[in-house]
Amino acid sequence: MAWYCSGSTNAELIENLFKAELIQNERVKEAMIGVDRAHYAPSRPYSDSPQPIGHGATISAPHMHAHACEYLIDYLKPGSRVLDIGSGSGYLTHVFANLVTDSSGSAVQGQVIGIDHISELTDLARDNMNKSEEGRELQASRKVEFITGDGRLGWKEGAPYDAIHVGAAAENLHPTLVDQLRAPGRLFIPLESEDGRSARDILSDGQFIWVVDKREDGSVHKEKVFQVSH
Ligand SMILES: C[S@@+](CC[C@H](N)C(=O)[O-])C[C@H]1O[C@@H](n2cnc3c(N)ncnc32)[C@H](O)[C@@H]1O
Repeated sequence: MAWYCSGSTNAELIENLFKAELIQNERVKEAMIGVDRAHYAPSRPYSDSPQPIGHGATISAPHMHAHACEYLIDYLKPGSRVLDIGSGSGYLTHVFANLVTDSSGSAVQGQVIGIDHISELTDLARDNMNKSEEGRELQASRKVEFITGDGRLGWKEGAPYDAIHVGAAAENLHPTLVDQLRAPGRLFIPLESEDGRSARDILSDGQFIWVVDKREDGSVHKEKVFQVSH
């Protein structure tokens, strides 16, 4: 289904994802329409597939970005704080910013921190965002910041976060990330094993997306929500 969602323009791509019900929430649709993927993907920006962005990295496929937003949407409200780990091209960081900031001039403002371990990619993400006026404004007002670092440690200086998105598969779930969640808060993370055990210990043919909720009382609940094939 996903690969049939490609379009010839950004609007057509997002509309096709919506028709295929990969995007269901109107706020997600609006936020994704508000960010032109051509500013972030150097080739085939409106194809529903991952594309190379240099330094051995890729921008994830649009349907993966849609899934991430859909699973996190209840935690992406104007004023929310978000950590985007493995921010790469900066595309999803920008979409998250559209969801948590409010252009009405309200005093309540959210913030999104994008973190990547390759400094050339954090530079690229800043440059990509600077291609649009809204992107420049989001960075100038520090509603979006890009940081170079090891995302496995999160970014405690900005914690707690209402939502943490991990864009790079992790071997296992780091308690540090759960510690940096607000209660309530939600973590979306691809793990290399089906049950959280190390991928080295088992035969695994894909990655598994897990959603980890920290509830208001501080209790933590983990759920495996879907498999991603290599
Ligand atoms: C599949 S790409 C997704 C990038 C981004 N979400 C996008 O769609 O453009 C994964 C990203 O995670 C980054 N990454 C991998 N391991 C990391 C780590 N330990 N800390 C921070 N970033 C990491 C890579 O450099 C790469 O940019």
